Amino acid sequence: TRVLILHGPNLNRLGKREPEIYGSETLDEINQRLRKLGDRLTLSVVAKQSNYEGELITEIHEAEGNFDYIICNPGAYTHTSYAIRDAIASVEVPVIEVHLSNIHAREEFRKQSVTAPVCIGQISGFGSYSYDLALQAIRELI
Ligand code: DQA
Repeated sequence: TRVLILHGPNLNRLGKREPEIYGSETLDEINQRLRKLGDRLTLSVVAKQSNYEGELITEIHEAEGNFDYIICNPGAYTHTSYAIRDAIASVEVPVIEVHLSNIHAREEFRKQSVTAPVCIGQISGFGSYSYDLALQAIRELI
């Protein structure tokens, strides 16, 4: 089972970026842990990050036929991007939306996700462990 973990804008700044909200781990450290967890769960994990909406859309399109699941943290595009929402809806690959912070407990504008309605579900608020939970959900869904 092949899993694409797709990190959106500003997530390359993890570790330095608002650590009181997003934690002190870097994206590389998180990805390394997720690949190890993937090995244990017999999931093959590939992680990518982009700050560009169009690149994220192309990654979603190209996942079709190459991945069985996508775990996606669209960053702030979660709240604004109808284009990413449409990309998710356009592919057969099921998507799990993930957030480090609890988007429902922060500013008003973060409470709405335009992407979550076209995902299997959303995991939000468990720090970087939100991604681990998504991998475990995939393990259970297979
Ligand atoms: C985030 C939450 C978003 O509101 C924010 O814009 C991010 C990160 C999270 O993982 O908590 O960039 O997706």
